Amino acid sequence: MRDLIIAIDGFSSTGKSTLAKLLAKELGYIHIDSGAMYRAISLYALENGMIDGNQVNEFELLPQLEFMDIHFELNPDTGKNEIFLNGENVEEKIRAMEVSSKVSLIAKIPEVRSFAVNLQRKMGEKKRIVMDGRDIGTTVFPNADLKIFLNASAEERAKRRYEELLKTDTPATFEAVFQNISERDHIDSTREISPLKQAEDAVLVDNGKLTPQETLAEVLAIIKGIS
Ligand code: C5P
Repeated sequence: MRDLIIAIDGFSSTGKSTLAKLLAKELGYIHIDSGAMYRAISLYALENGMIDGNQVNEFELLPQLEFMDIHFELNPDTGKNEIFLNGENVEEKIRAMEVSSKVSLIAKIPEVRSFAVNLQRKMGEKKRIVMDGRDIGTTVFPNADLKIFLNASAEERAKRRYEELLKTDTPATFEAVFQNISERDHIDSTREISPLKQAEDAVLVDNGKLTPQETLAEVLAIIKGIS
C-alpha cells in the first residue's frame, strides 16, 4: 500500500482521536491529535494568567509562541502519542474542563492557527500519518489521500465525553459537558479562519450508533477501496 496522509475532522467528541489512534495502530502510522496542540497553548495561557473571562491577552501570548516546544511522544504503556509542552507531559492536564472552556477562544486567533498549522504540516512531511482535528482536510492537508468527516448527535457526543471524564480525576457534570460541546461547536463552525466544515471530497461517517471498532472497520473498508 502506498504511504498516505489521512485527515479526520468533525465536531467535538465525535470519537476522532479514538478512530485516529486505532487507525494509526492498524496501519503502523503516526497519530497526531491536532486539538491537543490548541489545548496545550490554552493551558500555557491559563497557567500564565493570560486569560481573563473570555478575553485572551494576545499581546502577551503571541510573542511566546515561537518559544513554545510542543511535541508528541509515544507512550509504550498506553500506545498513545502523548503531548509535551515545554518538556512536560500535559496529556491529562489539557483535558480539564477549564482548558476545554477556553480552547475555542485560543483556536480562533489567526496567529495561533498559523503557528499550529505550520507544526502540523511539518509532522506530515513524511506521510504515514493520521491527523485528527477540525480543519485537517480543508486547510492543513487539502491534498490528503483520504478525508473522513465524523459526526454524531450532540447528546451522544456529550455522553461519551462525560463518561471519558468520569474515568479520570477531572470532575464535571453531564450538563456542563453538553453545554461546553454545544458552545465549542458554535465557535468552531462560525469562526472566520478555517471554520469547521466538511471538505467537499471528505467521506461522511456517522458513528452515533457505532462502536469504535465498527467505526474503524468502516474506515478500513474505505481505505481498501482507495489504495
Ligand atoms: O479535538 P478537541 O476537542 O480536543 O479540540 C479542542 C479545540 O481545539 C476545538 O474545540 C477547536 O476549538 C480547536 N481545534 C481547532 N482545529 C483543529 C483541532 C482543534 O480549532 N484542527
